[in-house]
Formats: sequence, structure tokens, C-alpha cells
Amino acid sequence: MPIQISAALRTMPFEDAIERILLDAPTIQARISAMGTEIADLYRGHDLLVISVLKGSIIFMADLIRAINIPHEIDFMATSSYGAGSKSSGVVRILKDLNKSIEGRNVLIVEDIIDSGNTLDYLVRILQERQPASLRIVTLLDKPDRREVVMPVDWVGFSIPNDFVVGYGLDYNEIYRNLPYIGVLRPHVYSGVREDQTAELHKRKED
Ligand code: PRP
Repeated sequence: MPIQISAALRTMPFEDAIERILLDAPTIQARISAMGTEIADLYRGHDLLVISVLKGSIIFMADLIRAINIPHEIDFMATSSYGAGSKSSGVVRILKDLNKSIEGRNVLIVEDIIDSGNTLDYLVRILQERQPASLRIVTLLDKPDRREVVMPVDWVGFSIPNDFVVGYGLDYNEIYRNLPYIGVLRPHVYSGVREDQTAELHKRKED
């Protein structure tokens, strides 16, 4: 049955949708601070262009660049790899390209999560063709169990199990990006609950 996102799901309280917190805000901030220091140490005295892959990486990007305490520029790309479901389709589309040339620049790609690896594999291939001086990758989350494409990743915030996670930029159907933590979504949220069933669930809770 195709997933139908209902008004009921969009208004479901976070506590009904989130099964548990996998990574809380202080844990995330501590890891970002450590990675930011390492990145700054590596690029200090060199040109650096940090590229955020929209939309999932926006929160990570905002915190990470403030932890990279050296001068640098930022730019944005937007890709889409998922349909409306919870699994990667393997098809990558560029929805927004970079504003400027990266030729001869030291580029750092910022991702929120590497799942199958298809998005980054595609991005790295097209960005390498543009002849940057160097190209490195930092991801907040890595799901090694789901990897379909092998690729070197320079910084991984956290390796996580194959749970459906949301928050801190990661969404389910564009919801939950604003959670300050990484949480595990309850299966009934993404398993194709029909609108009438969801409404019934809410009604039963209210009775
Ligand atoms: C997510 C995530 C990565 C990609 C990882 O983006 O932000 O870019 O999927 O999956 P992969 O390793 O299987 O390719 P998504 O396409 O969901 O867009 P979003 O960032 O706008 O949520």
C-alpha cells in the first residue's frame, strides 16, 4: 500500500512519533566540536570551501562551520535520493548546483547521513570532474550496514545501526528536521498508516 501522509501525522506530537533518543544534543555538540578542531587544524593556512548538501545537513553545517575556527567560504548543493518512503531509491538528482567554480579549491562536503552511499558517490564523481585541489567528506552519521557503494569518508561523527532516524536536520517526509536530537522514529509512523487509521488512533487516545 502506498504511504499516505495525512494531516494527522503532520500534527502528531513528537513524543508519539519518536521511539527513543539515539544521540542527545550535548553528545552531538561534543562530537562536532572535536571534528571542527580536527578540520581547522588540517586546513589552517589553506583555502577552504565547505559545501552543504541540502536539506538534511543544514543544522549540522551551521554548527560545524562555527566549530571550524579558521577563515572559509560556504556553498550549497541540493540533491534528492529518496522518494516519499523510508528507503533510498538509488536514484540521485541534482536539485540545486553550486554558485561558483570549485576548480583549484580545497572542498569539504558536509552530509548529514551516508546510507546506501549513492548520493555521495554521485556527488564526488561530478565534483571531481570540476578539478578541485582536494575533496574531502565529513558526515554526521554513517549507517555502514546499508552501504551499497564503498567510498572513503574523512570524518564520521557517529556510526549508527540501521534504525530510521530523524531530527537534527534529518526528516521523514520533511517533518522532524527541527528536533535538537537524533531520534528513532516509531515504525508505525513510516509503515504506511492510512489517514483514517491514524485519525482513529488519535481519536482513541482522546477518548
Ligand atoms: C538524504 C541524506 C543524504 C542521502 C543519503 O538526503 O541527506 O544526502 O539521503 O542517502 P544515500 O547514502 O542512500 O544516498 P535526501 O535525499 O533524503 O534529501 P534531504 O537531505 O533533503 O532530506
